[in-house]
Parts: sequence; structure tokens; C-alpha cells
Amino acid sequence: MFKIVDKQQLTPLIYSLWVEAPRIAQSAKPGQFLIVRPSDNGERVPLTICDYNPDNGTVRIVVQIAGVSSNKICNLNVGDCLTDVAGPLGKPSDFMEIPEEELKGKRYLFVAGGVGAAPVYPQAKYLHERGAKVDVIIGARNKDLIIMEDEMRKVCSNLYICTDDGSKGEKGVVTLLMERLGNKYDMCVAIGPMIMMKFATLMAKKLELPITVSLNTLMVDGTGMCGACRVSVAGKTMFACVDGPEFNGYDVDFDEALRRQTLYRKEEQQANAAAGLEFKR
Ligand SMILES: Cc1cc2nc3c(=O)[nH]c(=O)nc-3n(C[C@H](O)[C@H](O)[C@H](O)COP(=O)(O)OP(=O)(O)OC[C@H]3O[C@@H](n4cnc5c(N)ncnc54)[C@H](O)[C@@H]3O)c2cc1C
Ligand code: FES
Repeated sequence: MFKIVDKQQLTPLIYSLWVEAPRIAQSAKPGQFLIVRPSDNGERVPLTICDYNPDNGTVRIVVQIAGVSSNKICNLNVGDCLTDVAGPLGKPSDFMEIPEEELKGKRYLFVAGGVGAAPVYPQAKYLHERGAKVDVIIGARNKDLIIMEDEMRKVCSNLYICTDDGSKGEKGVVTLLMERLGNKYDMCVAIGPMIMMKFATLMAKKLELPITVSLNTLMVDGTGMCGACRVSVAGKTMFACVDGPEFNGYDVDFDEALRRQTLYRKEEQQANAAAGLEFKR
């Protein structure tokens, strides 16, 4: 059992939880994720490791209520336990292989959509602490969905915020800011809804900027066995859980990935209705 030691509500639908998981906290790296089961009969929910503290053996997850299982996790309180936390899963971010000396002075642009700010945070933090120049764009539909603004400011040189309705920061979508910032970076990393990553990749192509995306495909086992997370990358079949979740955005077949994400929409809606939950999709 994995005890929740801290819980904070970030927005009406997004919660931050610190969970006791000493072995995972020792080996977690930016870019990796966990599979969490909230209860004995609960579904397996993939969630990015947003932060980790090897000293006190805890890891942080930031969870948006999107349906029945994420709602179960967010209803747990400090002192309650998650039944299973498996991880760290997936490959660490590519820049983990770059010697620290080389990271100094490299320029990274992170593009976070909504709860995508959570997976961006450990990456920006790692690079910032090693002397890279990190700029971050956070975009969301409205100001109530912007998370981790203060924490993010501490791990980047410039933070740019935009909202679709203009309620905070610039009015517009993340690609507008990407275009304005232009091609002054060595690498762009985009994490958020699949559709945002598709358009961020198109903009990066226009700017001739290399881009990494983190694919939030459907996942079940997280070990490359079930095939749920299958994606086509550079014309080859890959499994986001073991070959990713990060890939070169230029190579990803986003249209196929978008189609596969909706495979269980009817069942998800039925489960939400049975649990009295309502979501706009
Ligand atoms: C590698 C990875 C990292 C992720 N990190 C985060 C994170 O840090 N914070 C966060 O809030 N969310 C994250 N997600 C998404 C999160 O896993 C889903 O929101 C969650 O599984 C929804 O389950 P549900 O039962 O609450 O909702 P449902 O009603 O079952 O589904 C709502 C939507 O969530 C997605 N989803 C559902 N089941 C799964 C599944 N088994 N695997 C993946 N996606 C699913 C689908 O797009 C679906 O339409 C991540 C997903 C992946 C693959
Ligand atoms: S989640 Fe089963 S193969 Fe990736």
C-alpha cells in the first residue's frame, strides 16, 4: 500500500498528491511515469512522475479528474493509501543522456497544455538546475486550468501564459506564442492533449525546430505486452509505454493516435453516467 502524505487542490478538477513510494523515489527520472491503482478493483491509471524526493521516499503526481478512476484517486485524502503504484515506467527524457557540461547554455522551449504542466515541471527543473536556458509556455482553455505557475517560474528563465478565452496571459493558443518566440532554441518539448501536440509539431516544423512530444495514449499494462498504447512512429509500430512515452514529434502519426484515443469513448461515458460524473469532451 502507498500512503498519501500530502494533498492539494490546484483547480476545481486538478489535485497534487505526494505519495510514499521509496523505491520509485530513488530511481525516478524526468520523462517517466507510474501506473496507479486507487483500489483493489480499480483500473490502472498512467500518471507522470511530476516530482520525486529520494530523501524522504515520496513521489508527486498531479491528477486531473477525467473520469471514474482519476476521480477515485482525487477523492483519496492524506493518510489514505493507493493499492498499487508501479514504476518508474517508460524511458527517461533524451536529454538525460547528454553530459551535464553540454547541457549548459543549451536553449529549451517547453510547451505545456493544461495538466501537461505537471510532466513539463520535472524536465524544466532538471535542465534549469544544470545551467540550460529554459523557457516555458503554459496554455489552457481558461485561467482556472492554469496550474503550477509559481513553481514553474522558479525553474525557467521566462514563463509565457496563454488562454483560449484571454482570462489569463495572452489570448490564444500555444502555437501563436511558439511562432512569436521563433527559432532561437536547440529543442522544443510539447506535452499536453494529443491535438495540441499535433499542432505544436506542425508549428515546430514551420520554424524548423526539433520537437519531442510525450504521448498520453491509452495504456493498460505499461510493460509492452497488451498493445493498448500502440502508435506509428516513422512508419514503425511502437509501444508508448516502453519505447516512449517521448518521441520525435516529426515522426508521430498523430491522426492515428487521435483516433485510437477515442476507442473506448462510449464505455467511458457509460461509466461516468453510472458514477454521476459529467464531462465536456
Ligand atoms: C504516460 C501517461 C502519462 C499521463 N500523465 C498524466 C498526469 O500526469 N496527470 C493526469 O491527470 N493525467 C495523465 N495521463 C492521463 C490519465 O492516465 C487519464 O486521464 C486517466 O487514465 C483517465 O482515466 P479515468 O478512468 O479517470 O477516465 P476515463 O473516462 O476512463 O477516460 C477519460 C480519458 O482519459 C484517457 N484514458 C482513459 N483511460 C486511460 C488509460 N488506461 N490510459 C491512458 N489514458 C486513459 C482517455 O483519453 C479517455 O478519453 C497520462 C497518460 C499517460 C499515457
Ligand atoms: S500499455 Fe500495454 S503495451 Fe503499452
